[in-house]
Amino acid sequence: MSRKSFYVTTPVYYVNDVPHIGHSYTTIAADVLTRYHKLCGQDTFFLTGTDEHGTKIQQMAEKKNKSPKEFCDEVVEKFKAAWRNLNIEYDNFIRTTNPRHEDAVKEVLQKLYDDGYIYKGKYEALYCVGCEQFKMRSDLVDGRCPDHKTEPEKRSEECYLFKLSSFQDRLYQLIKSDKFKIMPKERKNEVLSFIKNEGLQDISISRDKAKVYWGIPLPFDASHTTYVWVDAFLNYLTGLGWPQDKNNFEKFWPPTVQLMAKDILRVHATIWVSILMALDIELPQMYFIHGYFTVNGQKMSKSLGNVIDPVALSEKYGADVIRYFMLSEFPFGTDGDFSIKRLEETYNSDLANDFGNLLHRTLPMMDKYCNGVVPEPKEEDLIDEDLKKIAQAVVGSLAGLYEELKFRDILAEIWRLVRRTNKYIDEAAPWAFFKEGNDERLSTVMYNTLESIRIITILTYPFMPETSQKIWEQLGITESLVSQRIPEDVGWGGLKAGTKIKKGEPLFPRIDLNKNNA
Ligand code: MSP
Repeated sequence: MSRKSFYVTTPVYYVNDVPHIGHSYTTIAADVLTRYHKLCGQDTFFLTGTDEHGTKIQQMAEKKNKSPKEFCDEVVEKFKAAWRNLNIEYDNFIRTTNPRHEDAVKEVLQKLYDDGYIYKGKYEALYCVGCEQFKMRSDLVDGRCPDHKTEPEKRSEECYLFKLSSFQDRLYQLIKSDKFKIMPKERKNEVLSFIKNEGLQDISISRDKAKVYWGIPLPFDASHTTYVWVDAFLNYLTGLGWPQDKNNFEKFWPPTVQLMAKDILRVHATIWVSILMALDIELPQMYFIHGYFTVNGQKMSKSLGNVIDPVALSEKYGADVIRYFMLSEFPFGTDGDFSIKRLEETYNSDLANDFGNLLHRTLPMMDKYCNGVVPEPKEEDLIDEDLKKIAQAVVGSLAGLYEELKFRDILAEIWRLVRRTNKYIDEAAPWAFFKEGNDERLSTVMYNTLESIRIITILTYPFMPETSQKIWEQLGITESLVSQRIPEDVGWGGLKAGTKIKKGEPLFPRIDLNKNNA
């Protein structure tokens, strides 16, 4: 799937909720991918944003005695602050209340109407306000929405419908053949069996304006507003500046990967893709569906009071620690649990013991043995060869793992090199060479250790941008970290002899687990 540009999207998040750790999970993953693809020299575009129309938001604003727009403006600031705190660097933050987005939605609806994809009819079904979605009987557990535990309302209304059913066969083939790829495989199969067993029915794309006024009016019938999902999907186009910004669109469309959790796969895999087909726009290359986070084994919910605030967390532990933890704890495509206990354990073992220790023993040795100046490597030994081989194997494994979004495996590979480098120091024992006055071996061992740290720092950058930058400064390398390229600059031997190390603040001090078991 190699192409020159890289375009990644997160869903647009509802502003009826403050940003929580679940939203952060998707957004951090998108940020890591973007930073990696930048290091690979690709032009990248990372889009995130907020979904601001619909019944729920209208109701929440009413409760707070605010206009919906006022209410949205406030929550949007919270999302932006959360992303700043977590070192998220998006290219655009799209809001579905942006007038350009609203105009584009109207344009699309008019086109779909003119081309015969939208018609007036009646829709009768069960509707869950919590999900803002009509539900099938098979979606319910004991007659209730499994996510909101409420009984959906029966709704029958005059509305405009989109001819989703007419895309069923094409869609099935596209997904089956991987021309439109859904990963992981189990998720793809889930969608295929849904299409096969339930079939696609035409869907209502409008609401009565008297009931849902907080929405985009249909351009061909102002007594109706646009169904929030149709409005929201179009963010993936308008976020690139479409339809005005043709350059950006040509450069980045279609999305290389759209990230989302399993709760919104079905609507994305059916409605969004069919709208694109109706508009004759190329489909996304891939959806990657990640798992759901529970907290201490329980589903996160406001009523349980266990919603984790990513801002408080990043203030306490540091953004990079959260980023590392979330992506190393369990595979990206499966469900997993979040607990502070595990976070602190992982911090101590992987970050304080392994990575922190590697830095804190190497840099003082450099001062003591080499006056802080990177020496020329000289006499090679077998043990040096082994370190180099592992470094090269780790570097070589990453592209394939990134392609499949195996963040956990990527980190495990990088940590293979971290641990091997620690072991290398133990085995090579540079302190003995220093004592003996064996300059040849001492120089080689110190060079190799630092070279390994240099490579590790480039590789950890997508996951831990702030910390990697600090380490890079300690290494004293004059070229910027972000200008490094994979694979060119992660080959062995890139570190220049003569570079002056700048010892800095210690990174990853150990957490006292007995004191901190909140
Ligand atoms: N607004 C819609 C999406 C429209 S996209 C055209 C929406 N928003 S949401 O705020 O509810 O966010 C849903 C997304 O947040 C999920 O798909 C997932 O990316 C993320 N997560 C929310 N809670 C989560 C967990 N507990 N665990 C993991 N991810 C979760 O749906």
